[in-house]
Amino acid sequence: MNQSPQDSSAIRLPPGPSGSWRPTLALIRNPRLALEGWARQYGDPFLLTALNGPVVVTGREDLIRTIHGQDPSIYETFATQTTVPILGSGSMLVLFGDRHRRERRMMTPMFHGDRMKAYGHVMQQTAVNRMAAYLKADVIPAVELMTDISLEVIIRAIFGGNDEQLAAEMFDGSKRLVSRANPLLFFSRRTHFSCLGFSPWDRWLKAKQDMCRLFDRVIDERQQDAPANDDILSMLCAARYEDGEPMSREDIYAELLTFLFAGHETTALSMAWAVDHVHRNPQILNRLREELDDCADDAPESFAATPYLKAVIQETLRVNPIVTETLRKLRVPLELGEYRLPPGMAVAPATVLAHYNPEVYPEPNKFNPERFLERSFSPFEYMPFGGGHRRCIGAAFASYEMAIVLGTLFKKYEFELVDQTPPVPKRRSVTMGPSTQVPVRARIRR
Ligand code: HEM
Repeated sequence: MNQSPQDSSAIRLPPGPSGSWRPTLALIRNPRLALEGWARQYGDPFLLTALNGPVVVTGREDLIRTIHGQDPSIYETFATQTTVPILGSGSMLVLFGDRHRRERRMMTPMFHGDRMKAYGHVMQQTAVNRMAAYLKADVIPAVELMTDISLEVIIRAIFGGNDEQLAAEMFDGSKRLVSRANPLLFFSRRTHFSCLGFSPWDRWLKAKQDMCRLFDRVIDERQQDAPANDDILSMLCAARYEDGEPMSREDIYAELLTFLFAGHETTALSMAWAVDHVHRNPQILNRLREELDDCADDAPESFAATPYLKAVIQETLRVNPIVTETLRKLRVPLELGEYRLPPGMAVAPATVLAHYNPEVYPEPNKFNPERFLERSFSPFEYMPFGGGHRRCIGAAFASYEMAIVLGTLFKKYEFELVDQTPPVPKRRSVTMGPSTQVPVRARIRR
């Protein structure tokens, strides 16, 4: 560990913008512009007093290494005062310490290895079915198409693949839930107020209650039938902590909401960005098609193993990280470069700063998948899935899904972008996505 709580050397904080509303709104509106501007003006790292609390932000590799290299016990989660009421106190996003470690240990296998690969056919079939339904339209909104695909995939992974009616109900409930996740709810507890059922908070709570009622019905069935199913919900119902205790119902709700929430919009937005980037670069599209056409079979595994497609996905996540900064709150002082930060202060590796560092990524604004074939990047230079002990638990699942869905669709269909002007990143909730629906025309490839 970097230092002990008894160590009383003087606290030294970096400079940064004053006020809290204005920087928070700037960060919500355009994180890259805001973060790059502050790094230029105040240096890296800098101190940001967000509505949720003070945060020291950095895009420097050495400092990100320091942050991710610490013993996890020095951290708790940031902004629990806003996230707990939204998702519940049992969400992995808010747990820390032993409970977080236990929960991750229990759940990691659900999103990795053979269990993850078992979803390969579901991912591919879902992409093919959803695309076929959209093909009738003259113009297809790629964001919506990809959202439908990734939402259905995560729902089938969580609740099992065979119950069509249940999948449809979960699908509608989740769409409503996501549409009501107003970004401000995540940035300030003060936005959690009621107003005759019409405030953003009221609307979120209503959608969440409806979802939890639906969860209840399924959990009741699964708890009688758990051993027969190997979907994620059945595993959660059957799971036991090291002391033999099962998860409480409230905690199961919280994890289901977390997986639904964290597990589909992120993947969908990344896939929509990939569609846009690839079709703005004919050379990249041609190289990708050649590689996909060389795939001897169209098995999910084959798409997941194609190197150029992988590089396209990696570059998409570099240029457009869906989460622009990740946060942890200190429980003890931390020495960060020349500064010494107190307990209660948060630290934030800023993915978007690291990903646009021209010393690591020459011509950082250029979409250039080849860079991922030419060299590898350290986890402190490239971190679309965050890092350290909180690195996204669904990273392997999402990468596998993106390769299968994009590989299948790019091989089978020809897309044409409708908009001449590229979309720009725009905040959704905590995530950043394209400012448009990425409208495309599509037809079957000859
Ligand atoms: C392209 C898709 C995705 C992106 C870009 C993404 C990104 C992230 C990031 C940046 C974090 C924060 C990591 C940190 O604090 O260091 C995170 C955490 C998390 N993600 Fe993802 N994610 C994606 C897909 C998924 C999927 C498919 C799932 C579930 C199946 C998922 C579940 C989670 C969970 C539960 C956490 C919290 C982990 C913890 O705090 O221990 N994510 N994700």
